[in-house]
Amino acid sequence: MSLFNVYPLFDITPVKAEDVYVFDENNTKYLDLYGGHAVISIGHSHPKYVKHISEQVSKLGFYSNSIQNPLQVDLATKLGKLSGCKEYQLFLCNSGAEANENGLKLASFHNGKKKVIAFKNGFHGRTSAAVAATDNAKIVAPINAQQEVEILELGDLVALEKSLAKNDVCAVIIEFIQGVGGLDESTAEFYEAINTLCKKYNTCFIADEVQSGFGRTGDFFAFQKYNVTPDIISIAKGMGNGFPIGGILIHPDIKASFGLLGTTFGGNHLACVASSTVLEVIEEEKLMQNATKISAYFIEKAKEISEIKNIKGRGLMLGLEFDFPIAELRKKLIFNQKIFTGSAKNPNLLRILPPLTIKKEHVDALFDAIKSELS
Ligand SMILES: Cc1ncc(COP(=O)(O)O)c(C=O)c1O
Repeated sequence: MSLFNVYPLFDITPVKAEDVYVFDENNTKYLDLYGGHAVISIGHSHPKYVKHISEQVSKLGFYSNSIQNPLQVDLATKLGKLSGCKEYQLFLCNSGAEANENGLKLASFHNGKKKVIAFKNGFHGRTSAAVAATDNAKIVAPINAQQEVEILELGDLVALEKSLAKNDVCAVIIEFIQGVGGLDESTAEFYEAINTLCKKYNTCFIADEVQSGFGRTGDFFAFQKYNVTPDIISIAKGMGNGFPIGGILIHPDIKASFGLLGTTFGGNHLACVASSTVLEVIEEEKLMQNATKISAYFIEKAKEISEIKNIKGRGLMLGLEFDFPIAELRKKLIFNQKIFTGSAKNPNLLRILPPLTIKKEHVDALFDAIKSELS
């Protein structure tokens, strides 16, 4: 059987990894400043993570959501404490798309409406409602296009209020820092106005923190820089450090009832242990503080390179906008310099999403490599 050929692949075969490094079958060492799409939060193969998952799988790897699972309660407690969102309720699933899908569905159950407002260049996943709310016509199939979604310009408050006033919008979904789209952000005024307008028109405000959450920006959530209270917060990526897990944090105003949401695999024993360990390590190793510290150093170093026109993002969710398309540079960084970085919808933007354990020496290695390739 052949693989369904949907991914353009780099010809590299990682076989092991440790902290910020990935090794191929010839033991060639690559510096991973991409973390497999912002997934690796506490570093590859963190010893505590390996130990906890190994111990759990040797006891009980999985049972469905029909029995007591204290590991889910433990995860919810740790997550509430570290994120500062103690009063929220947690529903667990397996991926970012699923988190947003459940978030949108829950919003619609909650207020009985069905239209969604999303924003230009936003990305929310590839499932039914999540992909319909994603601004990329190429990945929206006809079956998805039947969802009622309005995509607005980021920052267009007039259009937002005009649409919400029709009273048919169940949710406004937004990435406070756009990931795939290219690290664009709007203003505090805009985010805080969405918050106010959603409350005014009985619409759920969904913060998509799938990529920006779990400490990546230096705050636990990117929205926490603003005076907003989302009704639903979606999480995934860094949550499991590579173990598939996602979830939504649900404001206490939204009430649960049996059967409202559900999943077979979501919240399984292994996933809970993986994510609880991620939270423990983020706290013990002060990784959010490290994200802020290394980010400041990174930005200073980036300013030394004249071809970089704009430095975007926050914490360790960063983008370097060059004055030329970066596809060739990214290839050279991988194959000549042995450094993984990422691309975005904006062709001039190099994305940097390293493990939160990264040190100054790794930042130096990147900028030495960029200088050498541009000279
Ligand atoms: C902001 C955001 N939301 C949702 C998703 C979808 O997550 P997943 O690929 O786990 O379904 C992504 C993935 O890149 C993302 O960046």
